[in-house]
Amino acid sequence: MKVIIEKNYEKMSQTAGRMVEEQIRQKPDAILGLATGSTPLGLYKELILKYKNGLDCLNISTFNLDEYVGLAPEHPQSYHYYMRKNLFSHINIRQENIFIPNGIAPDLKKECNNYERAIKNKGGVDLQILGIGRNGHIGFNEPGSEFDSKTRVVNLSKETIKDNSRFFDEKSDVPQKAITMGIGTILQAEKIILMIAGDSKREITKKFLATEPTPEIPATALKKHKHTVVLINKSLL
Ligand code: F6R
Repeated sequence: MKVIIEKNYEKMSQTAGRMVEEQIRQKPDAILGLATGSTPLGLYKELILKYKNGLDCLNISTFNLDEYVGLAPEHPQSYHYYMRKNLFSHINIRQENIFIPNGIAPDLKKECNNYERAIKNKGGVDLQILGIGRNGHIGFNEPGSEFDSKTRVVNLSKETIKDNSRFFDEKSDVPQKAITMGIGTILQAEKIILMIAGDSKREITKKFLATEPTPEIPATALKKHKHTVVLINKSLL
């Protein structure tokens, strides 16, 4: 695991943007694993800029980490909606190459198994983008998640539900469950970039760096991965 300390959020987004660009230029049909939330917003802005400047995204495929159970793709707080708004509607990716778990699938277990299979059928993720939760989650793999876990339905922790409630009008509207790629699924990616930004991440940043791999801090699983780069905003250290 390589740690890069970035001067600020903008620089971090630019570094991640360069790494994603390099991946797409090396392999125009690259398979990218994508995250939502506040952290990758700067990266997505960078990628849109790069697209406008000639980076072709026609043949890339993307697999998102997660989606809330119960939210339709049109719901403004769904991750389908987020991805369309913040990236996909601005670049020339093909609709059929976009993969996001369906949170309203009639058979959620089947949906998870199909998702796992779809990643394999595409040849696996080349480059995975991750953020980290205040409790150390990656995707929605909450503390206690097994390192070999696969795509599945999970209960969100109280902390995560509280963090997510800022996006919903009513506390009772905040989803309690999600579909997430497992830690085992994430670790199968060829390369991983973990981006750590946001003042609320100060405590978990220190814990993450200081702790040996343990399911109690899911992100520490990345220490077992050969090609993980961690980008940390300097202000958090
Ligand atoms: C999002 C995801 C989550 C977030 C994490 C950090 O798809 O899988 O693990 O990356 O909750 O969220 P932000 O970036 O909003 O602090």
